[in-house]
Amino acid sequence: MSSQMTPPKQPTFHQLFTTDHDAVRAELLAGLTAPTAYTAPKFLYDALGSRLFEAITELPEYYPTRTEVAIFERHGAAMAGVVPAGATLVDLGAGNCHKAASLFGTLHPSRYVAVDISVDFLRSALLLLQRQHPAMDMVGLGLDFSAGLALPPHAMPDAVLPGHSPRVVFYPGSSIGNFTHEQALAFLHSVHTACGQVADSGLLIGVDLVKDTAELEAAYDDALGVTAAFNLNLLLHINRTVGTDFNVREWLHVALFNAAESRIEMHLQARHTLTVRWPGGERTFTGGERIHTENSYKWTLLSFQALLANAGFAASQVWTDEGQRFAVCWARAQ
Ligand code: AVI
Repeated sequence: MSSQMTPPKQPTFHQLFTTDHDAVRAELLAGLTAPTAYTAPKFLYDALGSRLFEAITELPEYYPTRTEVAIFERHGAAMAGVVPAGATLVDLGAGNCHKAASLFGTLHPSRYVAVDISVDFLRSALLLLQRQHPAMDMVGLGLDFSAGLALPPHAMPDAVLPGHSPRVVFYPGSSIGNFTHEQALAFLHSVHTACGQVADSGLLIGVDLVKDTAELEAAYDDALGVTAAFNLNLLLHINRTVGTDFNVREWLHVALFNAAESRIEMHLQARHTLTVRWPGGERTFTGGERIHTENSYKWTLLSFQALLANAGFAASQVWTDEGQRFAVCWARAQ
């Protein structure tokens, strides 16, 4: 063949986030020594925690993942009618890239930007995906977007390709539920800004809806105890990071629906009075005292659409399952 053949495309990778270990340690200790102890939900996801979360998504009680998949399968054609083809698909928390890749055939993006805290999570998945979609421009970004999405222009495919395609920000799985309302609003504002001024850009997002308390609580306290292991594993993560001496066996997983706040709360509860020590400090927990480890907010269609509007998005379109347990929303930026 001629030497003028264009070489196959390769994904590009940019690691833009570095962990500040001192700041992480300080953040964890501030939470552990607060009058009501707490930790941010991001600390649930060390290597084992991430695997346990994947297992959670396969549990019979954990309806969100399969309900969302079913909504995409059932309403994909309708979504393709409003989500622009040829867009730059920006996948937040992409991980193995499976969810977004399963929509390529429906949404027909021309460029794919996978974002996760570390490009190491993305590398093998993107290399494989590039072989399956050789004409698509692919970028892996190692970025912490939890405090706001700021897409670096130099790392976006637009920087090296002529013209700007619309941006479709993809945020599935109801991860928005792990933000407080204030954090969710600030985050959605930043997504709206990241959509830029390019016409037809928008956000495709999965949201878990308010439902029967028993069904909600079972989803976060499954019979096999996988969610309990996911929550308790946090203590091992803190032991490694801070040098604490938490004994997992002294703690109990608690998941409850707080109706006033419309959120599932996960806690770890001391089984009896105990003292946790670390280099330079200690804390005594009385029996029954809790560490608040996660909130998972549940929205109504109305309250979530109001949140999108407050963040600057134009009218949104919503698809749900028959039981209205979960929703997928397309919110146009303009
Ligand atoms: C990642 N996030 C949307 C999950 C949720 O449902 O809030 C995390 C989770 N926590 C316990 N089970 C699943």
